[in-house]
Amino acid sequence: MSKLTLDRILQSQGFGTRKGCQQMIEAGEVSIAGACITNSRATFETEALEFVVYGEPWVYREHVYIALNKPANFECSRKPSHHPGVLTLLPEQFTWRDVQPVGRLDHDTTGILLMSDDGSFIHAQSSPKRHVPKVYAATTHDPVTPELVEQLLAGVKLHDEPAPLAALTCRKLSEHQLEIVLVQGKYHQVKRMLAAAGNHCTALRRSAIGNLTLDALELKEGEWCYLDEVQRALLVPGV
Ligand code: URA
Repeated sequence: MSKLTLDRILQSQGFGTRKGCQQMIEAGEVSIAGACITNSRATFETEALEFVVYGEPWVYREHVYIALNKPANFECSRKPSHHPGVLTLLPEQFTWRDVQPVGRLDHDTTGILLMSDDGSFIHAQSSPKRHVPKVYAATTHDPVTPELVEQLLAGVKLHDEPAPLAALTCRKLSEHQLEIVLVQGKYHQVKRMLAAAGNHCTALRRSAIGNLTLDALELKEGEWCYLDEVQRALLVPGV
């Protein structure tokens, strides 16, 4: 439990600088429990605090944990160069509170992307030691053969990688589609593994991280949602 002044609360939630938040409050743009609060030094218990800014309702969150269904042609980089960044798909408050993607998807890869402003969560989720399985549906240029699946399961040697990398599981979905589950998270890993096995990835979608599936979240491309504790608990190793 902690009590904070309203200007600090709004600042922590990504509504701008402290000064900007004070001006917003003094201009009568913030209300709590139906009452307009114009004193920026008024204090409130932050836990589960509901407030309205410019007519939009918000709930105080110490940290945010987000799943985005990333569309193609968005970059995960903090300084995108050729396409808009994924943060442009979220309310601008999240940029102010320094929400970042957890790991990266290529600009042309679609599917589930975690985002957060909690450094320990980002670190834990991206740690290679954690071996969180990530499930991808890859569309291939050439047909999916039993040999291709076998090679991906046995491990393929990638340039700059000391040891061959193997899929945790891999199965044919259709003539030109396979599901591959990886635990390593190397740069362009699916595309490079398919290329090393003699095929070519023409489209890639990440459908799950651990036991958290995009289907269960029911997000259309470009949509996002907060993840609660139960959903975050699904982001564990072991599918
Ligand atoms: N593997 C890739 O090749 N690209 C991604 O975006 C994710 C995994």
